[in-house]
Amino acid sequence: MTQSLASKTALITGGTTGIGLATARLFLAEGARVAVTGQNPDTLTAVRAELPKALVLRADARKVEDAARAVDEVGKAFGGLDVLFLNAGVARFAPIDGFDEAFYDDMMNVNVKGVIFTLQKALPLLRKGGSVILNTSVVASRGVANASVYSATKGALSALTRALATELAPRGIRVNSVSPGPIATPIYGKLGMPSEAVSAFETSMKSKVPLARFGEADEVAQAVLFLATSTGSFVNGSEIAVDGGLASST
Ligand SMILES: NC(=O)c1ccc[n+]([C@@H]2O[C@H](COP(=O)([O-])OP(=O)(O)OC[C@H]3O[C@@H](n4cnc5c(N)ncnc54)[C@H](OP(=O)(O)O)[C@@H]3O)[C@@H](O)[C@H]2O)c1
Repeated sequence: MTQSLASKTALITGGTTGIGLATARLFLAEGARVAVTGQNPDTLTAVRAELPKALVLRADARKVEDAARAVDEVGKAFGGLDVLFLNAGVARFAPIDGFDEAFYDDMMNVNVKGVIFTLQKALPLLRKGGSVILNTSVVASRGVANASVYSATKGALSALTRALATELAPRGIRVNSVSPGPIATPIYGKLGMPSEAVSAFETSMKSKVPLARFGEADEVAQAVLFLATSTGSFVNGSEIAVDGGLASST
């Protein structure tokens, strides 16, 4: 079997559950040396047990000093980086008149500030030929009620993908994003809504997806792998929708 990431190194933020964990498993199977970050002690412990070959780092995406420390540890362990998957994110839903400043700050800090400063700190490690992948969302291009702040964070990442693809191309670094639709991950247990409201939301999302189902984290990981490897060598500034057709449907 070919190993498309043999001798490559990768850092995956939010690599302890869901899409990040599925990507870590795939990258390891493809021969990469992989580091993952997270902040929850329980999920960090679980991933250390499941992926003993991975470098598992505690780093809160909201804290620039944590990003700097994690990147420093990756540099010491790997010497450089070929792939950076900026995946850590939180989703909380509330109507526009139903949240406070802390709700806004928390999502912006994890989803936008964390991405920008982790990339800034990791840039000196990224080798020529490197690939940076952001994780946006279908909500950046399709209106979803009660998801205003979350959508704003993901819209910011869409714009960031295009700006950075242009800015980092002269350094030989490609920047792209994956834009998942509804994917079955633990994120749905953390939306801050009652479980009946989450179930109703899931049913409604499923009915809108042309392929009529939720995606699997592995299906997003495959798109990330394409962008990470030389197979995607002329893809830059793109956003790959992994959403069963949701963004392009009426
Ligand atoms: N699932 C979907 O339907 C969907 C759709 C579109 C986009 N996405 C995006 O996909 C990405 C991954 O989400 P997921 O669905 O895989 O959800 P998930 O299973 O909840 O994974 C989120 C990951 O982010 C990490 N994380 C959260 N807050 C953090 C913080 N402050 N510092 C460091 N790490 C933090 C979590 O680590 P801890 O366990 O340590 O908190 C976890 O590893 C997110 O950016 C999300 O917006 C998901």
